[in-house]
Amino acid sequence: MQRWYHVVTLVLLVSASEDFDWTKNQRTSFYYGTFPPGFSWGAGSSAYQTEGAWNIDGKGLSIWDAFAHKKGTISSNATGDSSCEGYYKFKDDVGLMKDMKLNHYRFSISWPRILPNGLKNEQINEKGLKYYDDLINMLLENKITPIVTLYHWDLPQLLQERYGGWQNSSMINYFNDFANLCFEKFGNKVKYWITFNNPWSIAVEGYETGEHAPGLKLRGIGAYKAAHNIIKAHAKVWHTYDTQWRSKQKGMVGISLTADWGEPVDSTNQRDIEAADRYMQFSLGWFASPVFYGDYPQVMKEYIGRKSGQQGLGLSRLPVFTPQEKSYVKGTCDFLGVGHFTTRYVTQRNQPSTLGDSYFTDRDLAELVDPVWPDPGSEWLYAVPWGFRRMLNFIKSQYGNPMVYVTENGVSEKIMCTDLCDHWRIHYYKDYINEMLKAVKDGVNVKGYTAWSLLDNFEWDEGYSERFGLFYVDFSSKNKPRYPKASVQYYKRIISSNGFPNQREVESWKRKSKEMCSTSNQLLAADPLIGHMELVTEIVVPTVCTLCILLSAVLLMFLLRRRF
Ligand code: NOJ
Repeated sequence: MQRWYHVVTLVLLVSASEDFDWTKNQRTSFYYGTFPPGFSWGAGSSAYQTEGAWNIDGKGLSIWDAFAHKKGTISSNATGDSSCEGYYKFKDDVGLMKDMKLNHYRFSISWPRILPNGLKNEQINEKGLKYYDDLINMLLENKITPIVTLYHWDLPQLLQERYGGWQNSSMINYFNDFANLCFEKFGNKVKYWITFNNPWSIAVEGYETGEHAPGLKLRGIGAYKAAHNIIKAHAKVWHTYDTQWRSKQKGMVGISLTADWGEPVDSTNQRDIEAADRYMQFSLGWFASPVFYGDYPQVMKEYIGRKSGQQGLGLSRLPVFTPQEKSYVKGTCDFLGVGHFTTRYVTQRNQPSTLGDSYFTDRDLAELVDPVWPDPGSEWLYAVPWGFRRMLNFIKSQYGNPMVYVTENGVSEKIMCTDLCDHWRIHYYKDYINEMLKAVKDGVNVKGYTAWSLLDNFEWDEGYSERFGLFYVDFSSKNKPRYPKASVQYYKRIISSNGFPNQREVESWKRKSKEMCSTSNQLLAADPLIGHMELVTEIVVPTVCTLCILLSAVLLMFLLRRRF
């Protein structure tokens, strides 16, 4: 039965993508050409990673506030308390976007900034609503389309404490109330909604490994349960929009799924091909199959079901959708948001894992990386551009060529690096965007691209030690100044040309970007001086003035006494 299923899957995969030859190796060629007119270029951020102002103007606590405040959870015990101060500096940031001529900006709304306790019927925070309203207005005034994520990981802490967060199905209605409020308040201006950002990470890192908030380690169970509630919550919000708002507001609701590409170690070995397919089904397919087809991938049901049986459990650890739920969840995706950063080679595991039951061991596979792949920043992030094209073609062939917005793609660097001439990021963007262009030529329905991220920001459990930004943020300076890296100039040129027009022009971009970044480097080098000047204007000058006033008062009193 199992083998039969795999054969069918592979046949479908091959026949559905007649135009993409999976066996052809075009990994190093560069394609000169442009994207279709109207292609949307943007950059992204998320609330907890950039806003700061964690307890300002009535905002409630999120699970990330609570998690980051626990010592030992985040690298160097960093928190998002102030981060980039985006809450105060959003006007400057829109200015940066305008200068880059971005078509869209992807950001997220912090649920507890609007509903401090998470519950609509308990308290609505008007100041939180106003902040997002101002940001949206500012974007629209500058002709930048807002793409808004409703959940980028910052669940109200009270919902975690009272109900256990995404382990509890009551989140479905609470999230729907929050989303409905956002549609009511902002839906006349916002036309692109993303329910969840990277639910894989919410489920696995939040409830299986515990590296992320809320830090639970419910191995082999927690992630599947969280994902089940998230998928149902997504579907409910999609239906709410569909029935109550769509005809008036004429927008779209999608979900943003992040996945690496899994390539078979040996593409002629059937067991490796199946292992790589399982890798994709356990990551992207876990969420994409339900929203496009109404159920989990068959291979997840088989593997988790069999392993649960071997453990002596009566039921599979993977929850089951009822027939009604299947039809409710199916088809709830107006566009698919795709986050993609890297690739893995995948092979069949030869021996059973000794690590016990978990999401990871359920997949029965091993992941490998090629030592020649560049690894400039985060230890998990190898630059493998060709994986992007294959991933996009996989989406086309598996899910009926849905409308795709790339919602995240980019590369980091280590904190020690203060060089704004980020040639490795230029290479990364150039090559990944080029593979996306090839995918568009393959017929994948990609409508927009979002560079991750606009600014260096709080990189979750890694704190500020990994910088993904197009703009460097000096976190040591009170005012959190932003400095353009060379990649800003390069990305600007891709945007203004809508792709890569011809070899001569594209080759000149790198040189021009480098020239600009040496000026930025000088500015950054002068930063301690600016900090020093801030100190002078903010502390020394007022203190000296106060002392002068006091001295004059004393002198005056002394003179007056002598006179009388
Ligand atoms: C995906 C997450 O959505 C985003 O918040 C994070 O910064 C990037 N991955 C890079 O790790």
